[in-house]
Amino acid sequence: MRNSTIDIQPLTGALGAEILGIDLSRPLDDGRVREIRQAFLDHGVIFFRDQTLTPEQHIAFAERFAPINVNRFFTAVPGHPQIAEVRKEPQQTRNIGSQWHTDHSYDQVPAMGSVLLAREVPDHGGDTLFASMYLAYESLSDGLKRTLESLRAVHSSRHIFGPQARYFGTDLEGRLHNPELATQDAVHPVVIRHPETGRKALYVNPNFTVGIEGWHPEESKALLDFLYRHAVQPDFLCRFRWRAGSIAFWDNRCTWHYAVNDYQGQRRLMHRITLDGMPLG
Ligand code: SIN
Repeated sequence: MRNSTIDIQPLTGALGAEILGIDLSRPLDDGRVREIRQAFLDHGVIFFRDQTLTPEQHIAFAERFAPINVNRFFTAVPGHPQIAEVRKEPQQTRNIGSQWHTDHSYDQVPAMGSVLLAREVPDHGGDTLFASMYLAYESLSDGLKRTLESLRAVHSSRHIFGPQARYFGTDLEGRLHNPELATQDAVHPVVIRHPETGRKALYVNPNFTVGIEGWHPEESKALLDFLYRHAVQPDFLCRFRWRAGSIAFWDNRCTWHYAVNDYQGQRRLMHRITLDGMPLG
């Protein structure tokens, strides 16, 4: 790790670090932004506590790192189309995000990162899990790594957000919208080289990856199921316990995340901003 003037406390040996002593409601100078970005690249996901941000300040913080990529499917925060609402009301049983995924992998140029701010959290439960796709890749055998490096996978938004999506008829209706805009499919390498760190990472995920290009569905399923089991070993994970005002800023190129749905009868309201990425290779 490089010298840094910010206080960075790693959460686990796999990924994740808390950044202490920064008030994100104040403008950040370029040096601070560079340090935060380096911590984000080093740890895959960084966390901040006790931030009191208006939506405008949330947007201003996110825009120091990349232009905002407006999500087409999530209901936006009123008056702020750049901010997606991740809401679960007490009477709802289903939540958004309780399958391992990385945001926007169905786009031709997937999102670089997401900045999730907790507005209202349950008394207990509602944690978010993160998994390192660097470690998932690096821990494979050399033989399987060689095989994967020649493969490309198809990712899609259609089965999750399109007219056939599983959420229709459930209590998630109303939380998600614009099914007719779910036309995105993209093909990405199964192993990417991270465009900023140069490290290799596994780039398939259980939510949006629909198959290996050129393989029969059963062949794809067998390989992907193995990779999905492999990637969520406890040694590759961290778990974040939210408080109102907590922020998680994760790197979509090298992590997965999973929103735990264990807080029935309680409200959880999060504001998410997703940031533009760069082409993957
Ligand atoms: C998401 O999947 O982007 C939301 C994660 C969460 O609500 O914890």
